[in-house]
Amino acid sequence: MSLVVEGLRAAYGESQVLQGVSLTIGAGEVVTLLGRNGMGKTTTVRAVMGLLPGMGGRVTGGRIEWDGVALPGLAPYRIGRMGLGLVPEGRLVFPRLTVEENLTATARAGGRWSLDAVYQFFPRLAERRRNMGSQLSGGEQQMLAIGRALMTNPRLLLLDEATEGLAPLIRAEIWAVLAALKAEGQAILLIDKNLAAVMRLADRHVVVEKGRTVWSGTSEGLAASPELRETYLHL
Ligand SMILES: Nc1ncnc2c1ncn2[C@@H]1O[C@H](COP(=O)(O)OP(=O)(O)OP(=O)(O)O)[C@@H](O)[C@H]1O
Ligand SMILES: [Mg+2]
Repeated sequence: MSLVVEGLRAAYGESQVLQGVSLTIGAGEVVTLLGRNGMGKTTTVRAVMGLLPGMGGRVTGGRIEWDGVALPGLAPYRIGRMGLGLVPEGRLVFPRLTVEENLTATARAGGRWSLDAVYQFFPRLAERRRNMGSQLSGGEQQMLAIGRALMTNPRLLLLDEATEGLAPLIRAEIWAVLAALKAEGQAILLIDKNLAAVMRLADRHVVVEKGRTVWSGTSEGLAASPELRETYLHL
């Protein structure tokens, strides 16, 4: 499998937000998309998943190819069926569905992930299976959002700020979940602001600034460049 994003441009209405985002991810890789607030990380993920038209946006240039197939113009459900699974920013758990209904609503059978497998992986969700989405804690909602994406049996899992706003212990649980998924060979595109954690987990990093890829490289490369971290990440 491979996702290739090359020179991606995208706009909301008149406002050109992406002007040259490039990244690649192959089988079993964990790649992060880094950058300060408002730099275009979420927009990049929306563009890949076909979600921009539903949000008043559109791809205006560049390439997004999944195993050589151009994604722009395809509906989100088709992109999902092609093996891309998103854990969206803000989780977006269905509040009036039960945990189990959330998991099965968008599920696609055939692969490692069934209801039983997700419940085994997240025992807390099994305990809460009859509860409404709205009755869960933030951490449980995040687990549910990850479980829901896994239920589509994605070949590439995209996570947009999966540890945002969670207590430290719950964050640690999410990082452990992601490390376990990586160990199984799950390819992951990850957006997160916790640099120490992503540097431990990821194979490569892509830094975006004002809608443009300005750097990409390994954790060692990022560790070796305080200027890069100061200039583009304000750390
Ligand atoms: N639906 C929208 N309509 C218009 N402009 C938008 C929309 N969503 C985002 N933007 C703008 O696009 C730019 C990039 O936003 P985006 O959400 O992609 O950034 P981000 O890197 O994910 O930021 P954050 O770290 O805060 O999540 C910002 O200037 C933002 O205000
Ligand atoms: Mg964002």
